[in-house]
Amino acid sequence: VSGAADIPTIGVFDSGFGGLTVLRALVSRMPQAHFAFLGDTARLPYGSKSRRTIARYAADSAQFLVREQGAEFLVIACNTASALALDAIQDAVPVPVLGVIEPGAAAAKAASRGGDVLVIATDATVQSHAYASACRAQALRALEKACPLLVPLVEEGWTDHPVTAEVIRIYLDELTQDAASKGLHPDTLVLGCTHYPLLRSAIERAVPTGVRVIDSADAAADAAVRLFGDGADRIAVDPAPESSLRCSSLRCFATDSVEKFERLGSRFLGCPVGKVELVDLGG
Ligand code: DGL
Repeated sequence: VSGAADIPTIGVFDSGFGGLTVLRALVSRMPQAHFAFLGDTARLPYGSKSRRTIARYAADSAQFLVREQGAEFLVIACNTASALALDAIQDAVPVPVLGVIEPGAAAAKAASRGGDVLVIATDATVQSHAYASACRAQALRALEKACPLLVPLVEEGWTDHPVTAEVIRIYLDELTQDAASKGLHPDTLVLGCTHYPLLRSAIERAVPTGVRVIDSADAAADAAVRLFGDGADRIAVDPAPESSLRCSSLRCFATDSVEKFERLGSRFLGCPVGKVELVDLGG
């Protein structure tokens, strides 16, 4: 394609295919960019692992996108890697790197009237308190809760299943009671994990009235357009993103289960992911 070499490649990384929800928001804003998405499905979940292991896995993945795919910018579309390994990723690659935690906190700031917000995420993200500090920087009070059963339920495709609805209800009841016991009056719930947007309607049914549910995908994509703004003069940024997805160039890579990625990935992306290529990043 003439001029294709001038068009930058944006690398998007997640531990699995949940980050395709962020890719979708990016593609809708920058439909002419080239995208390379890597899901480290062989080593998922990151959310139950230590900072050291997450940092090593995430740095390998980032290097694959930059060295092998020529990515000029990276979006870490994984809350756990953004919370625990953003510095390690920035040290591992010579390109700008954007995580999803700060955009998520900024979206919470825009949504919350009273300033008290709830965050649900993986164990590792919650233990890092990355959302609590990003929210504090936005003058918000955040109460975080780990919901470790939700990722496997989404991975199983049980997004609209009574068991999942019940698990969500139990988690949110516990969180709401905890907030009340701490004297908080939350009006916003942040989906602090890339898998949770797939459960959005079940979560919206379970939150107390008046609580808005937000995820970081749109906020992260807006932040990407701002951060990559100078590079973006080589990409036509769509000022009015469309709901239907057009992507001129997308390559998807996974470290395991290519068939499952192709099958479930389209749910996250909102259109077929195409042929997914298998890569080996080692152990
Ligand atoms: N991608 C991870 C996140 O957003 C969820 C899946 C995992 O635990 O690896 O936190």
